[in-house]
Amino acid sequence: MDCFYPTSRSVPSLCSSPSSSSRSSSPSSAKTPATERSVIFGDHDLPFFDSLLHDDRYILVLGGLGYIGGHTTVELLKAGYNVIVIDNLSNSYRDVLDRIHLLRDRYYQGKAGAAPALDFYDIDYQDIPTMESIIEKYDRPSTWDSEHGPRRSKITGVIHFAAFKSVEESIANPLRYYSNNVCGMVDLLGLLGDHGIKTFIFSSSATVYGTLANSGKPIREEFCVHKPETFEDEDGVVQTQETGSTGITNPYGRTKWMCEAILSDLAAADPDWTIVALRYFNPVGCDESGILTEEPKGKPSNLMPLVVKTMQGEMEALQVFGANWETKDGTAVRDFIHVSDLARGHITALTSANEGRIHQPFRTFNLGTGCGHSVREVVDAMETASSKKIATRVVGRREGDVGYCVARATRAHEELRWKTEKSLKDCCVDILNCLKLRSH
Ligand code: UD1
Repeated sequence: MDCFYPTSRSVPSLCSSPSSSSRSSSPSSAKTPATERSVIFGDHDLPFFDSLLHDDRYILVLGGLGYIGGHTTVELLKAGYNVIVIDNLSNSYRDVLDRIHLLRDRYYQGKAGAAPALDFYDIDYQDIPTMESIIEKYDRPSTWDSEHGPRRSKITGVIHFAAFKSVEESIANPLRYYSNNVCGMVDLLGLLGDHGIKTFIFSSSATVYGTLANSGKPIREEFCVHKPETFEDEDGVVQTQETGSTGITNPYGRTKWMCEAILSDLAAADPDWTIVALRYFNPVGCDESGILTEEPKGKPSNLMPLVVKTMQGEMEALQVFGANWETKDGTAVRDFIHVSDLARGHITALTSANEGRIHQPFRTFNLGTGCGHSVREVVDAMETASSKKIATRVVGRREGDVGYCVARATRAHEELRWKTEKSLKDCCVDILNCLKLRSH
């Protein structure tokens, strides 16, 4: 299936923390074939901790059991990083942790040396006192002296996925979104800064481009900036982009934009930070093992889970939101990226940050394939991969949708040396593999 382009151009606590239920702040960590458990903490349900047997640097992953977070945790472990996962299970399941352990253990089976550690804490990342007690466990004790110099932590980077992401819910309950996504992040940054943890990878979204994405061309990072920027466009014309949000249609999208703006300000005030905002396009697919997949709680609203439901007979027909967009077949076009490619984009960003290859304290990157596929093409790809007919019914456009949203992926290629490896067909095959595994 060809990469699709449109036929024509168309148009200290700054916020209060909620009194969340703080559960166990002891980590749970499973035994791996290559390691022995060691008892470190008290009498909680899973009082075992294998961390001390490893390289003592960690990556802290907030929301590490969700769809993208879970896939990223697996890729981090495969890349040899010890990982601390914080997740309150608000949109994920506890057994995702077991699946991640399984994938890690399989990957390291037969390899020399111990598998990286995976410590898990079932808490809300907004529970700052509990977060602090966890982070303190990873302080380097001998180097901390309140009179002399900054703290040093074994945590060398943070990847932050712990945000709400339903557009519909954000419209109905905006304060919940601003509190968790924005205030939560502000409090977290204060805590990290106090502990000298200043490498931060933020889970952003193409939603920050708002209606600008609809220009009919792959969208470049310079179209949403937090300081005025001058750049040369594809036609060699010098353009200046002013700051500001650009036709964002919902509170969820605004939280992503606000978080980016806050991160940009923080990096400008304190250049010791290295902050990377990764703007995701449309993640689909699942780990090729079939063991990890997308499991949203509640009703799915994204395209691929609904294509799958229709294919499985759980829905009579997939509603196609508009067949009169200015695109090749009239249905909307998106940049569908395999979730494992997306996950690996985080590892590359983190490594680049830690190796000093990100030259600004705050930098944004599109994570997409650079290729567009229409809704119709997604349905066709799944029909071909599954040899099943998927019924569709064209209905009106969904409120707030754009007809076209595709990444210009050049910045990530050039600066991070990252690009996608998997196709839309691979996404469909991996989903089918997972369904097959689960049906046994
Ligand atoms: C949506 C969110 C976006 C979020 C992204 C993350 C909206 C308006 N936007 O983007 O903020 O960052 O998910 O995954 O919800 N479609 C159908 N029928 C369906 C479902 C979707 O035709 O039943 C179409 C949509 O109109 C759209 C395309 O499929 O053109 C992709 O939709 P979706 O998967 O919801 O993603 P986005 O709208 O791109």
